[in-house]
Amino acid sequence: EVVIAEQRELTGLAADAVERLVREEPSAVLGLATGSTPMPVYDELVRRHREEGLSFAGARGFLLDEYVGLSRDHPQRYRRVISQEIVERVDWPEEQVLGPDGLAEDLPEACACYEQSIAEAGGIDLQLLGIGADGHVAFNEPGSSLASRTRVKSLTAQTREDNARFFDSPEEVPVHCLTQGLGTISEARHLVLLATGEHKAPAVRQLVEGAISARWPATVLQLHPHVTVLVDEAAASGL
Ligand code: GLP
Repeated sequence: EVVIAEQRELTGLAADAVERLVREEPSAVLGLATGSTPMPVYDELVRRHREEGLSFAGARGFLLDEYVGLSRDHPQRYRRVISQEIVERVDWPEEQVLGPDGLAEDLPEACACYEQSIAEAGGIDLQLLGIGADGHVAFNEPGSSLASRTRVKSLTAQTREDNARFFDSPEEVPVHCLTQGLGTISEARHLVLLATGEHKAPAVRQLVEGAISARWPATVLQLHPHVTVLVDEAAASGL
């Protein structure tokens, strides 16, 4: 399903999907995305928590990805971003939200552990997703295997450049990351992907209409039985 609407409406629809799930199943497993696009959704969920009693007390959360090597309190560490944007603003116990451990000594082991934690939680019920201008999802850059699992990756020069705006200097952007694989992400029962802005138009076009290919990692979503793509006019302009 592809919905083309204004930002406010998209935010509401994504929040509705989360709310419906959490109200129906208080121990739901949510997949959390970073990047700037999903942030209004977290704000809206916080509002619904404060004003409408939406509770995350029993929910569990799993992040999509994490930078390697950022200290625990680094403002761009994704686990910390997620705490600040949602977890600590609602009634969600911190220990119920996990991310891949970018500070682990044995990174491949940390990736395997992470996969196991997701499996033990019973898999992800609803996964929020953004998309990179080059069609990456999480940190699965072009060329990623469509069946890939959580693993260590190098960021492309493009993504490091795109994300440099969040850091004091471009050199500070980590070179490596841990990311759920496209195979991992595909196992979530419902995928909700948000994209806004004209720079996302080529990626959205490939996602919706392109041939399934590792060249555009997001095209793997075409194989999934339950995907909601939420885009504004600008991001939909290539369709
Ligand atoms: C980052 C994240 C992705 C995100 C993408 C787009 O690299 N790892 O999960 O979807 O960039 O970010 P934004 O929403 O800021 O455009």
